[in-house]
Amino acid sequence: MSTPRVLVFDSGVGGLSIAACLHAAMPSVSLTYLADTAGFPYGDQSEETVIARCVALIERLMAQEPVDLVVVACNTASTVVLPALRERLQVPVVGVVPAIKPAAALSENRRLGVLATPATVRRPYTEDLIQRFAADCEIARVGHPGLVRWAEAKVGGRPVPLAELAEAVRPLADAGVDTVVLGCTHYPLIRDELAQVLPEVRYWVDSGDAIARRVRYLLDEAERLVDGCEVSPMNARFSGPVPREFETVLNGLGLRAGRVDGGWPEGFAPP
Ligand code: DGL
Repeated sequence: MSTPRVLVFDSGVGGLSIAACLHAAMPSVSLTYLADTAGFPYGDQSEETVIARCVALIERLMAQEPVDLVVVACNTASTVVLPALRERLQVPVVGVVPAIKPAAALSENRRLGVLATPATVRRPYTEDLIQRFAADCEIARVGHPGLVRWAEAKVGGRPVPLAELAEAVRPLADAGVDTVVLGCTHYPLIRDELAQVLPEVRYWVDSGDAIARRVRYLLDEAERLVDGCEVSPMNARFSGPVPREFETVLNGLGLRAGRVDGGWPEGFAPP
């Protein structure tokens, strides 16, 4: 049986936090990373733009390199694009949504912080998760545009400005939350800095391991999971420039780079 192939999509480098969990759980699965760095950040854009860009890029890539499964490793995109993608693609599509349910199960003081992009924080999808799984909790929401940029900059080798970060997440400190949902896949990449500025937070909850379990289940169900530990390198395509220090970052996350292309596809015009 051939190696199963999984496409991991994000607006930028955040989806690498999910790719790292997928790789740790299933090292022989061949991952292709696709990032719309020319359209980044999605957190500031309209739903229509996000849907049109995701669908166009993912369909184009799949026409060239078919995959067995697509992971939309971006909360901001997943809250709006999953129905359109599932309607058009013949393979399973797994989305990432803020891990409010596991966070509510962990919180001891019933005060939860939800940290996400400005778009994700105000989407009905997120509100619905809160009502369903954390109705008994006090919720402090922060949707700050700086965090994804600081995470991208960190990947490019620049330090996260801790004073600005502390200011951005101050509402979580003021609310006394003991648990924070990292509702954007970029945020696990700056978890250490977040923990430094919010030392009283006990639990940091992201979706990486849950996504890896879901992908494993779906590949298993489709009888596509192969045993064996031949490790596949990860190819990566960026609609804009390739982030600086990309390969170093991959190595730090336990991943190995295969072919890496920037400015893909030639002549891609934003819808
Ligand atoms: N990684 C994306 C997410 O999980 C970042 C969104 C953005 O581009 O603003 O929401």
